[in-house]
Formats: sequence, C-alpha cells, structure tokens
Amino acid sequence: MHDLLHTLPSCQRLRVELGERSYEIMIGEHLLSHTGAAMKELSLTGSCFIVTDEIVAAKHLAALVQSLTAENISYEVITVPPGEGSKSFARLENILGRILKHKPERSSTLLALGGGVVGDLTGFAASILLRGINFVQIPTTLLSQVDSSVGGKTGINTTHGKNLIGSFYQPRLVVADISLLTSLPERELAAGYAEVVKYALINDADFFDWLEAQAGNITRKDPEILQQIIYKSCQAKAMIVAEDEREGGVRALLNLGHTFGHALEAETGFSEKLLHGEAVALGTMMAFSLSVQLGLCPQRDLDRILRHFTMMRLPTRLSHVPAIWNVDTLLNHMFQDKKVEGGKLVLILSKGIGKAFIAKDVEVAPVRTLLERMVHQH
Ligand SMILES: NC(=O)c1ccc[n+]([C@@H]2O[C@H](COP(=O)([O-])OP(=O)(O)OC[C@H]3O[C@@H](n4cnc5c(N)ncnc54)[C@H](O)[C@@H]3O)[C@@H](O)[C@H]2O)c1
Ligand SMILES: [Zn+2]
Repeated sequence: MHDLLHTLPSCQRLRVELGERSYEIMIGEHLLSHTGAAMKELSLTGSCFIVTDEIVAAKHLAALVQSLTAENISYEVITVPPGEGSKSFARLENILGRILKHKPERSSTLLALGGGVVGDLTGFAASILLRGINFVQIPTTLLSQVDSSVGGKTGINTTHGKNLIGSFYQPRLVVADISLLTSLPERELAAGYAEVVKYALINDADFFDWLEAQAGNITRKDPEILQQIIYKSCQAKAMIVAEDEREGGVRALLNLGHTFGHALEAETGFSEKLLHGEAVALGTMMAFSLSVQLGLCPQRDLDRILRHFTMMRLPTRLSHVPAIWNVDTLLNHMFQDKKVEGGKLVLILSKGIGKAFIAKDVEVAPVRTLLERMVHQH
C-alpha cells in the first residue's frame, strides 16, 4: 500500500480500524483517475462492475474507466436513474441480474461511483452477491464522502420505510476525490455539510468553532478546507464506528437530528422538496430546541447553530420547506422509526454544542409541544 505514495497525487489516508475488515479512505484532489492503480495495490484486479447514476456517469465515468483500462482491469457499467427511488428491490434485482449475466466470481469487485444512493444500493448488492464480493466506493457527493461511505451501512428502502432492508458490509477501499465536488449543485453541497456539522455538535466543540471561522472558505469550496473537513468528519465517524460497528451503543449518537429528520423526509415523500441533509439540519434544530425546552441545553448554543446553518444556506424552520406539516402524522412517523424502545422515544439530545447524549425514555408530551411550536413558526 505504501508504494501508492509514489504513484498517487498527494492525498490523506485514514484507516478505519475494524480488525480484518479494516480499510483505508483516501482523501484528496484528482484521485479518480488513480482508482485503478489503488485497486491494483490491493490486488483487486478481478472483473469489475461499476454501478453509477446517469448524472454522475455523464460527468465522471470516463476518467474512472480510463484508470481501470490503464491497469488492464476489465469492467462493465451499470447505470441507474438518479435519486432515492433507485434504492428499491426492483432496482437491486435488476442490478444483480445484469451482473450475474456476466458470471462474476468471488474475486470480482463492485464499484460504486456516486452519492449515498448509489453507495447504499451497490454496497448491499455486493454484500449478497455470491455471499459477498469486493466492494469499492467512490463517493461523489459531500454527504457520501463524509458520511455514507464510512461505516459499512448498506441498504434499500421499502414502502414500510427507509433503509429497513440492508446489511453491514465494509468496503475494501474508499476513494474520496474532492475534485468531484466541483460539479455538485450548491444545494447538495449544503445538504452534505449538515452531516459535517453533526460531528462537531456530537462531541467536538472546537471543530464547531473552526467551522464557524471557515464558513466563507467552505461556501467558496476552498479545496484545502474541504479536504480538512472531509478528513475530520471521516475520522470522527470512523472512531465511533470502530468502537461500536453494529450500533449497540455509542454509534446511536450519529443519529443526532435523524429521528426528527426521517419523519420530515417521510412526510415529504423522500422527494426533492427536502434533501436528506436538509432534513438533518432541521432535525438537528429540533433536537437542540427540545433540549433547550427540557432545560438541558443553553439557548445561546441553539442560537449559534441557527446562525451557522443560515449562513451555510441550510433550512432552519419547517416553513422553509414547501410542505404542509401535521403534528400527528409527524409524531406517528417518529414512533415508526426503528429507534423506538418500549413505546418511549430514543432520541439524541444535547447539553450544548459538542455534548450530545442518548436519551432513552423521552416522553411523547414534550415532543408534541416542540412539534406544535415548529409547525406554527413562520
Ligand atoms: N449508509 C450510510 O451510513 C448512510 C449515511 C447517510 C446517508 N445515507 C444515504 O445516502 C443517500 C443520500 O446520499 P446523497 O445525498 O449523496 O444523495 P444522491 O446519491 O441521491 O446524490 C444526490 C444528487 O447529486 C447527484 N450527484 C452525485 N454526485 C455528483 C457530482 N459529483 N456532481 C454532480 N451531481 C452529482 C446525483 O446524481 C443525485 O442527483 C440517502 O439514501 C441516505 O439514506 C446512507
Ligand atoms: Zn444522515
């Protein structure tokens, strides 16, 4: 692996420590065209199946294909429509069928080139194909570079809810190429950034201070700053995942803003009206507002988050979303979320910036009060 240092442009490497399933995340600029070389170093030279979406394929597939060809790695390309709708049983079956037609072997590699949708779908396919074949991720959105490509959660959606079918399956390699973010729409960049702020809010107040100070550079997409943000976020997630791979405990902290967020996403039908990261931003506002309401968190911390989200063009009020909200249906969604134990809600609450904790028995009444406040705020 160390030989790569000579053949690849400067990049940071972060090792995710998971025993024999450990792997490296490469973070830097212009890495896509070196993917073939990086795979070769890991002896991932069997036939390769690239799964990507139509938008990403148009912009970035050619460079990837070229790098595989340069290393004599044979490949097939499977393109799916962009969007959450592709995380479905129908699409999974279609992909598996298309791969099986080409007689894959255990030495074959499934390569995800795309955002979290392509990553989750491809990772799940890799985990069940021939009972598990090599999986490589090239995340192309900020969200997937800082979150979904780390930690091994894969899956698809069903009519019963999001991500309810899936597996834990670790990739052999993740290539986070910052240059790919230049083609990403501003709105997607902002949405992914909500997950970055999440890590700071969970347990790293200094990181939040730094993010506040760098706000201008972040919106300007300064590559050095982006690289630092991605490295720091992957490191934060990798540390939590290394401690608790299967979410028996501390990993639940990563759900900060997500139980509220998922309810909002469900209400808007997982549509363009509200992106996942936007739902996380709103959900984070709600988790901190509830924490303030319960007397756990100082109001000034909530105000700081509000200011930072606003500056980063993230929604902070339900009225920022083109939807009609209903407290009862939102509550219903929250109770359908998989993080419910014994009728009481398990929520991630906070004692302030960098001080999130798992609250295991949150009553419905204060949550209802909070939702009523949020729904009527204009
Ligand atoms: N597995 C996990 O741990 C985990 C964690 C967080 C989120 N997720 C999942 O991730 C998904 C959301 O991921 P996402 O936000 O990356 O969305 P996405 O994959 O839908 O990508 C967003 C949009 O950006 C486009 N796009 C992607 N890369 C681009 C680029 N470089 N240039 C231009 N356009 C580009 C895509 O075509 C798509 O239209 C959700 O399904 C969510 O459940 C999973
Ligand atoms: Zn998320």
